[in-house]
Amino acid sequence: MAIKTHLRLLLTAGSLLATTFASPVSHFDDDDDDTPLPVVIWHGLGDAYNADGMRQVAALVDTINPGTLVYPIRIEEAASRDRYDSFVGNVTEQLAKVCADIAAHPILSTAPAIDAVGFSQGGQLLRGYIERCNNPPVRSLITFGSQHNGITAFRECEATNWICRFAMAVLGTNPWSPTVQGKLVPAQYFRDPDQYDKYLEHSNFLADINNEREVKNETYKKNMAKLENFVMYMFDEDMTVVPKETAWFEDVNGTEITPLRARKLYSEDWLGLRELDRKGGLKFRTAPGDHMQLSDELLAEAFGDFFGPLNRHKGRSEPRPASRGGEDEFGMGGDL
Ligand SMILES: *[C@@H]1O[C@H](CO)[C@@H](O)[C@H](O)[C@H]1NC(C)=O
Ligand SMILES: *[C@@H]1O[C@H](CO)[C@@H](O)[C@H](O)[C@H]1NC(C)=O
Ligand SMILES: *[C@@H]1O[C@H](CO)[C@@H](O)[C@H](O)[C@H]1NC(C)=O
Repeated sequence: MAIKTHLRLLLTAGSLLATTFASPVSHFDDDDDDTPLPVVIWHGLGDAYNADGMRQVAALVDTINPGTLVYPIRIEEAASRDRYDSFVGNVTEQLAKVCADIAAHPILSTAPAIDAVGFSQGGQLLRGYIERCNNPPVRSLITFGSQHNGITAFRECEATNWICRFAMAVLGTNPWSPTVQGKLVPAQYFRDPDQYDKYLEHSNFLADINNEREVKNETYKKNMAKLENFVMYMFDEDMTVVPKETAWFEDVNGTEITPLRARKLYSEDWLGLRELDRKGGLKFRTAPGDHMQLSDELLAEAFGDFFGPLNRHKGRSEPRPASRGGEDEFGMGGDL
């Protein structure tokens, strides 16, 4: 099954490659070109880039915007290795590899921009791509149930998933040890408000890409502010991610929930999110149900709204109202 899937992906990529190389100039040189921007997908914990679910998402992207080159991000080509790498590895090193792969990809590297969709932890990993590399630059980033503000507890593993169980057991000992931070992916976005100093000192990934440390990285901010859209979906009955509000970049400390727009990260604009919000590019959306219970309808709406050709806005008359589909539910102005 896995091999078959893999072959199909290769075939799809192969035929698109042939099309591109057949034309003397890049597909993307022409301003009026209606070729959709390529889309990169980053899967979640315990998944693999060529699993059935990812393949279906890739097919749906192409249904909504025919002719889209879809690149499912992988750390390694073998599915079992790629799945393992979603639990185990130094995220800094994984990201460096992904950045190099994307920058060297024959089609992605010639695109004026790409779109990106991240599932669960793939969402914050894609944010890492944008902040640290962004070559080619991302136009719109859509994340589903991602842990932008980290997790405060580790999830339950399926009884038969030994890698997950092992990883979570090790995490339970000391999430801040260099070994755990350097090897276990979820530890690198573990963020416990009660151990905030330890987090700031030891977090190998999240504290850095969230620009929470004293010295801010201006490139991170600049790259995030350059996005056209940063769309965060939260599953309203998410039982896997603790707390679920992390999907909207909210801060949850005990029972207190601080919306993104009321946070220092926003008001002092450590990440360019306020700047992005002022140009209308920050979107909060709700998905019904538990973690990753995604319907084709919901995905299709997201891909239709934010992906497609570079100049897709030409010919679109009105911007969509901000309150549609549970967006901007805070009832707060963008100025806070
Ligand atoms: C900020 O991030 C960029 C991209 O990763 C890196 O090249 C640069 O060295 C970082 N700057 C600082 C001050 O850490
Ligand atoms: C992760 O990898 C980077 C790059 O090789 C390295 O600088 C860093 O120390 C590693 N982190 C840990 C916690 O081992
Ligand atoms: C979270 O709340 C605890 C208890 O009120 C407090 O000590 C801690 O500083 C808070 N953490 C953050 C990051 O605000």
